[in-house]
Amino acid sequence: MGWLQNKTALITGGGSGIGRAVVKRFIQEGAKVCILDISESKLQSLNDEFGSDVISVCGDVRHFEDNQRAVSVAVETFGKLDHLVLNAGIFDGFKKLTDLSPEVIEKAYHEILDINVKGCLLGVKAALPELKKRKGTIIFSVSGASFYPDGGGVLYTASKHAELGLLRQMAFELAPDIRVNGVALGGTITELSVAPSLKPYYSAPSVNDKKESIRNRNPLKMFMEPEHHVASYVLLASDQSQAITGEVISSDGGLGVRGLS
Ligand SMILES: NC(=O)c1ccc[n+]([C@@H]2O[C@H](COP(=O)([O-])OP(=O)(O)OC[C@H]3O[C@@H](n4cnc5c(N)ncnc54)[C@H](O)[C@@H]3O)[C@@H](O)[C@H]2O)c1
Repeated sequence: MGWLQNKTALITGGGSGIGRAVVKRFIQEGAKVCILDISESKLQSLNDEFGSDVISVCGDVRHFEDNQRAVSVAVETFGKLDHLVLNAGIFDGFKKLTDLSPEVIEKAYHEILDINVKGCLLGVKAALPELKKRKGTIIFSVSGASFYPDGGGVLYTASKHAELGLLRQMAFELAPDIRVNGVALGGTITELSVAPSLKPYYSAPSVNDKKESIRNRNPLKMFMEPEHHVASYVLLASDQSQAITGEVISSDGGLGVRGLS
């Protein structure tokens, strides 16, 4: 028996990277999964790989109707909704305040905060009635940037701190019916995309440079792959963590114990 046998999950941004690895692991643990993602081609490849264990909805987490449509499709297809994973997100390419003109700040702010923060708010709002029926769980993909500077630039760090605030407030507001937790991911080898208005000012590092930079920042001296994180999501979704709410598992190579030197 898997840890999520006969459960149903909605995972936003499940089309690639960490979300996709969570989709795969949830299915291995016995769950059926609905994925809300903005990329049609990624969704098609999920359908090809996972067949009837998944149902996909092409949509944008910034729109309430798309979140609502994903919840309806999940319930129509699988009969219920037990878990919501708020994972869709974009990055700011480590842009510092001094790198940005006021005009670019204005645009990039909306691009990043609308997906990373408003997307979570709307996802929860849409899923709430179904999650309440099941005494379900919500899991946020937060970040080292939810706790420390330099896990991104000003906009990404602000968005990930805001997600942590949402997580805590929602854990407070939705108890005792729904548990709300998060996984704080460290630097992970994915194709996390940079906000469109920042792309002209960003040159992506090579994968090798990225691995090196991530390794140099954490005490375990490791770069992370999406698969390193998935067991934390399974634990927080499952009944094995039934006394846990408002908490975050840091899956980041030990950023919290870097020390002073
Ligand atoms: N990769 C890292 O180093 C890292 C570190 C800490 C936190 N995170 C967080 O993990 C989460 C997943 O990121 P990833 O690294 O797997 O990147 P990714 O780009 O592989 O995955 C993000 C997914 O979200 C989808 N998406 C983007 N905008 C969307 C929108 N408006 N509506 C619906 N779907 C949308 C993308 O199509 C993609 O499938 C993000 O929230 C990110 O902030 C990543």
